[in-house]
Amino acid sequence: MPLVSTRQLLDEAAKGGYGVGAFNVNDMEQIQAIMEAAKETNSPVIIQASRGARAFAQDNYLFHLILAANELYPEIPIAMHLDHGNSFETCKSAIELGYSSVMMDGSLKADGKTPATFEENVAVTKQVVDFAHARGVAVEGEIGVLGGIEDGHGAGGSGLDHVTDPDQAVEFAELTGVDSLAIAIGTSHGAYKFTKKPDGSVLKMDLLIAIHKRLPKTHLVMHGSSSVPKDLQDIINQYGGKLKETWGVPVEEIQLGIRNGVRKVNVDTDNRLAITGAIRKVLWETPEKFDPRDYMKPARAAMQKVVAQRMTQFGQAGHAGDYKAISIADMAKGYKDGSLSTKPLVAAR
Ligand code: G3H
Ligand code: 13P
Ligand code: ZN
Repeated sequence: MPLVSTRQLLDEAAKGGYGVGAFNVNDMEQIQAIMEAAKETNSPVIIQASRGARAFAQDNYLFHLILAANELYPEIPIAMHLDHGNSFETCKSAIELGYSSVMMDGSLKADGKTPATFEENVAVTKQVVDFAHARGVAVEGEIGVLGGIEDGHGAGGSGLDHVTDPDQAVEFAELTGVDSLAIAIGTSHGAYKFTKKPDGSVLKMDLLIAIHKRLPKTHLVMHGSSSVPKDLQDIINQYGGKLKETWGVPVEEIQLGIRNGVRKVNVDTDNRLAITGAIRKVLWETPEKFDPRDYMKPARAAMQKVVAQRMTQFGQAGHAGDYKAISIADMAKGYKDGSLSTKPLVAAR
């Protein structure tokens, strides 16, 4: 099966009423963990790489690992997605490499830190949409700004500083023609999202529902969706780590989002926690070990467990075989002839 566009994956998810986890990768073991979890749960897959991941692994290594996954699991639809592209050039380079999907995060300027104006966001996102759709590649845009900073990317501050305005979301979707829309509802990247179990004052699910009401057919994307489970925090701290007490996004809130238009759910931190906890445990309990396979195997297994759990909780489990992949070349034809509409359905306020 060729690499699949996230547009097809998310269109199918909308038909089936489920969400699809988008898991970040930086290395072979993380890709293996995701693919084994997908096989175990019979799930379609979105693998995503940030700019940091591309720099860490180098483009060719990372991309060819995805192609290997595609060869090894021909029954599983895989989308390869650029996470948080910061500029037209970054998105263009991913598309030219063969990514089937990109995120143009124009909510921030190209420095990845300073919030951009609405007009700047529209202009750069539209530029990416025109380039990507002509090549059959799907585009995710972002309106509103998430909190936190990951690997130098992010405006910092609280997730509530720049939440999405529903009217702007409508205007942005109309002006850009994005395939999916990331919104800011109080979440942030990383482990430190909330200081207690979040309620509606900090995690704005009512805002998400309001945006979905205005854009009932638009695929919404929830970033910063790690749940930061206490058991994963505890393993790290039990074996010498020093995480402060923290809360993530409860899975039931993500499921509420999925019932209200969320189709792509971004998860990175939970896997980072699972990997680190497993490695710490081995090194703590058996300090005489030095073969990386002794700790990378349990680390990979720990990530697989988290990913399989999320695939089941988001509802994508069981759906890998529902459809045949549309090639990226055929997606390009669909954008050109209008059969893949990019005009959002807008409901009155
Ligand atoms: O967007 C945030 C993801 O967790 C990727 O993080 O930029 O540190 O690779 P990163
Ligand atoms: P987390 O840090 O909550 O895992 O979010 C990941 C993300 O949004 C990647 O784009
Ligand atoms: Zn993100």
